[in-house]
Amino acid sequence: MQIFITGVTGFLGGEVLVNLAARKEIEKIYCLVRIKDGEADPKARLRKIFELHSDHYDANKIELVEGNLTDEDLVIKLKADPRLKNIDHVIHSAANTSFSGIYNDLIDKVNIQGLKSLLAWAASLEVLNKFVYIGTATICGKDVLHRMVHEDESPNLQASHLVRYTYSKMMGELMVREMLQKEKILILRPSIIMGDSRPVFPRSPVILWTLATANLIRLLPIAPDSALDVIPVDYAAKAITALLFAKRRFDTYHISAGTPSVSTPFKLAKAIEAFYPERPAFKFIDQKMLNPIKIWSKKGEDKNNHLADFTEYTSYWSSVFNENGQLRILLAGMEPYFGFLSLGQTFNNDRLLADTTIGAPPPAHQYILSSRSYLDKINILEAALDP
Ligand SMILES: NC(=O)c1ccc[n+]([C@@H]2O[C@H](COP(=O)([O-])OP(=O)(O)OC[C@H]3O[C@@H](n4cnc5c(N)ncnc54)[C@H](OP(=O)(O)O)[C@@H]3O)[C@@H](O)[C@H]2O)c1
Repeated sequence: MQIFITGVTGFLGGEVLVNLAARKEIEKIYCLVRIKDGEADPKARLRKIFELHSDHYDANKIELVEGNLTDEDLVIKLKADPRLKNIDHVIHSAANTSFSGIYNDLIDKVNIQGLKSLLAWAASLEVLNKFVYIGTATICGKDVLHRMVHEDESPNLQASHLVRYTYSKMMGELMVREMLQKEKILILRPSIIMGDSRPVFPRSPVILWTLATANLIRLLPIAPDSALDVIPVDYAAKAITALLFAKRRFDTYHISAGTPSVSTPFKLAKAIEAFYPERPAFKFIDQKMLNPIKIWSKKGEDKNNHLADFTEYTSYWSSVFNENGQLRILLAGMEPYFGFLSLGQTFNNDRLLADTTIGAPPPAHQYILSSRSYLDKINILEAALDP
């Protein structure tokens, strides 16, 4: 088996690469990695993936393919690379995963145009067996509220989206189905990936920074009991690897918590609350209170007394945030996530559980305890500036 994989320097892709590297059935893994300006040793990025959790790096099995999904000549370059002639599996995990509107053009370039280039190249491979597209269950959009979502409901062009990212992933999925034969497609849709269920420093603070931020703010304009379908990255990677080798009955799978392992903001908050006795207790308030909080965060003022019942929190904020608008930055970064947290979507994982032996993931309010101490090491301001 010869695999070509993208996105290995990312949160999920790195974990998938480590898992694949340990499989004897796989002879070679070619990794598309974009090289940063002034990077003297490009392979250092590959080695770093394995060094993080002391995994074994086999330089003979893992090869670097330099490339950028936004490169207009990507197809030509990949076709011209003699090492890639016998690729039988492509796993596409790279994406621009930003929730920030300022990246909308880049999101389209990477997630739609870049995918198109990759598909054009993959379609030309003589021995292609499967193109594995790492999608996202959230392509169902924001109209699906407070219920279980099944694989067959998406992609749905009528769906409306909270952010360009989920729209681009929906369009990407449609393109995969258009450009490749049905038997060559495997679409894997993780729900929300946050942290790691092992006692290790998570590969990336993606999403986890929002929990670290909520843990600092404590007064949250979200529904406490809204369903939260969150999974740890080690489980997501294990599921992707298991599905790659499984006797599959479908071409599309959710990789999700599902009903038995679903969490809620309240359960997550309760799991970590006691570790921070110096902070006020978590409190959940109506979503429309976000505006008064945002106004307070700008000037420390609450002219209309919207926050009169929450002076414990405003005093606390005055003591933890300095005058440079830190709370304002954090709230701006959190705003799209508050939207997602209110949707109450659970993603059905019956297909995954039936076609593999990996079982259900632990619920987020349980697994988070193994890496809870890392919450305090996340640079939340940096994350909020680039959500
Ligand atoms: N995290 C989640 O909660 C979640 C949930 C569901 C689905 N997913 C899907 O899972 C996949 C991986 O997500 P992730 O959380 O691992 O994302 P991530 O940490 O942001 O990693 C993104 C990866 O894509 C690469 N990339 C971005 N732009 C590129 C370009 N122009 N050319 C080549 N490579 C590029 C990045 O490379 P650099 O290191 O060079 O930036 C990085 O390796 C995505 O397809 C995402 O849609 C994620």
